[in-house]
Order: sequence, then C-alpha cells, then structure tokens
Amino acid sequence: MTLLRNFFIGLSTNETARNFVKHFGPARQLSRRFVAGESLDEAIAVSKALNANGIKVILNSVGESVSNQAEAQQSAQNYQDLLQRVKAEGIEASITIKPSQVGLAFDPDFCYEAIADIVQSARELDILVEIDIEGSPDVEATLRMYHRLLDTFEGGVRQAVQSYLHRTPADVKRLIERGGGIRLVKGAYQELPEIALQDKKAINQACLDIIEMMLTPDALDRGAYLVLGSHDPLLIEALLEKAKTQNIKAEQFEIQMLLGVRRDEQQRLADLGYQMRVYVPYGPAWYPYFMRRLAERPANVFFILRAMVGK
Ligand code: FDA
Repeated sequence: MTLLRNFFIGLSTNETARNFVKHFGPARQLSRRFVAGESLDEAIAVSKALNANGIKVILNSVGESVSNQAEAQQSAQNYQDLLQRVKAEGIEASITIKPSQVGLAFDPDFCYEAIADIVQSARELDILVEIDIEGSPDVEATLRMYHRLLDTFEGGVRQAVQSYLHRTPADVKRLIERGGGIRLVKGAYQELPEIALQDKKAINQACLDIIEMMLTPDALDRGAYLVLGSHDPLLIEALLEKAKTQNIKAEQFEIQMLLGVRRDEQQRLADLGYQMRVYVPYGPAWYPYFMRRLAERPANVFFILRAMVGK
C-alpha cells in the first residue's frame, strides 16, 4: 500500500502521466469526481449544488508552488477575485490558501502581506479564510505567518495542521493559547520518519490526542475552534461521541471532507445538523491534487485500468 501511495505521489510531478490523465477519457472522468473543473464557474456550480443540500464549501484554486514574484502576485489577485465572486454569488463558502502559491518559499514577507490583504478583504465581505499546510519545509514559516495573522486579525482565519508531524502537538498547544482555529488533518505529503509518524495507528492516535486537546473547557473558553478534516469513521465518531458526552454544541466544531469522497456520509452528517464543509478544488493545475487523492485510495485506479483494457 505504501509503495502504491509513493508511486502516485511520484506521478503527481510526472509530465507524461499528466498528459495521459488529461487526455484519457475515463481518467479525466474520474478526476471530475474530485475536482470541480478547470474554471471558477464550474466550482461555483458545484458549490451551489452542495449548498442546496445544506453543505458548506471551502473553495481552493488548486496550484502548487510558484517560483517568482509575478506569479505570486497573480495568485494573490486570484484569491481576491475569488472572494468577490463568492460574495456576488451569495454562496456559503470559505476560501483556502496555499502559502506556496503566494511566494512563501522565496519571499515570506510578501506572502504575509498578500495573505493579510486577502484576510482583510475577506473580513469586509464576511468570508472565512483558511490556510492549507504543505510539505514539512514550509511548516515553520506557515505557522509563523499564522501567528502574525492572529496578532493582526484575532479571528476569521483558520490554520490546517497535520497530525503526522512530530512537532504538531506543541504547535497546537501554542495555537490553543492564542485561541486559534485549526483544521486538523492527517497529512498528505511524503515525510521522513524523523519528521513524521509513518504508522497509520500512531497517526490516528495523534489525531485523537489533538481532538482531546482542542475540546478541553479551557481551549473552548479561549476561543480555540476545531475543524476535523478527515473521512475516517473512527475519528469522526470519536469527535461526535466526545461532543455528545461533553455537551459541546454542533456549532462549536466542524467536519470537513474532500469533494467526491464519502458523499453519502457528507450528506448524512449535514442532515443530522452537524456543520459539514466540503473542500472544492478547481483550476487548470488540478493534476497533482488528483494524484494525491489516488495515492490515498489506490482502489480508484482500478477503475482507470479497467477502462484501459476495455472491461
Ligand atoms: P484515510 O485516507 O487515512 O482513510 C481512513 C478511513 O477513511 C478509511 O479506512 C476509510 O474507512 C475512510 N475513507 C477514506 N477515503 C474514503 C473513500 N474514498 N471512500 C470511503 N471511505 C473512505 N493534507 C495536508 O497535508 N494539508 C492540508 O492542508 C490538507 N487539507 C485537507 C482538507 C480537508 C477538508 C481534508 C478532508 C483533507 C485535507 N488534507 C490535507 C488531506 C489529509 O491530510 C489526508 O491526506 C486525507 O484526508 C486522507 O486522510 P483521512 O483522514 O481522510 O483518512
């Protein structure tokens, strides 16, 4: 399984594989389950359909690292345009930003200023901003930036954290002290054992420990807010059970899942009155994102292989 996972993560940067997936019908069709489309119009249409079923969305213009100031500036502008469009369409959406798209690697100050401008605009439009967390080389700078955002804005911004990183419990402790909002995910990148847990059970236990930390009366009093970004029934049930026994209201936490994954469960949780938000990726650079989804569930690839042999 790990081999397959690494294989798909490897393919996420492979140009031949990219061209194959983009032009091979069944692969492209499967990608549309996980990615709203190449255009914002398509993402808005998908968002409206989810909203109509009581599910909120987080919009993400997919793309990975940019390598120069002009590209970073363009990404920042795209996020600003996205905010205006969300407002104009009246959809129930937050947006999420990948810091590497806004120049984190080569100009952290520019990145901070651009994201602060986006958060300021979002605040004026009453839209929540979330910050994705990427590979381990970017984690320290991303969290430093989030703390700066908390200094300036206090609320209205949430930061994703990865339970597989050894450092995360200490990071979460600091975020709780600041009353931060976190999106807790397991972590999607390939990391070394020195940096991240490798064992599924240990990663799950780390998630459970962080859920516990985030839902103590002290954390809730400080305004810390927990979002669980996972499809894992074990984690979701543990969170719901904890909320029930501690009398924590449905508005005091949120569950997020990715577009196309466990769609029935998304609807079931929304129908039960929980806050359910679906991550809606879109944009021309959707391919590496799609490969990471296949890496998580290689079973999906058998669908493509079957189509290739005409069965
Ligand atoms: P995992 O993949 O470990 O699966 C656990 C169990 O969930 C399975 O055994 C199965 O029961 C169920 N399940 C999972 N997929 C299923 C499917 N397709 N159908 C049926 N059952 C399924 N990562 C990151 O590094 N930075 C980030 O910023 C984010 N952001 C983010 C936002 C949101 C909203 C989500 C949901 C996820 C992320 N991630 C992320 C990705 C995250 O780190 C992780 O890689 C994936 O969510 C996969 O882990 P899960 O917790 O979903 O369970």
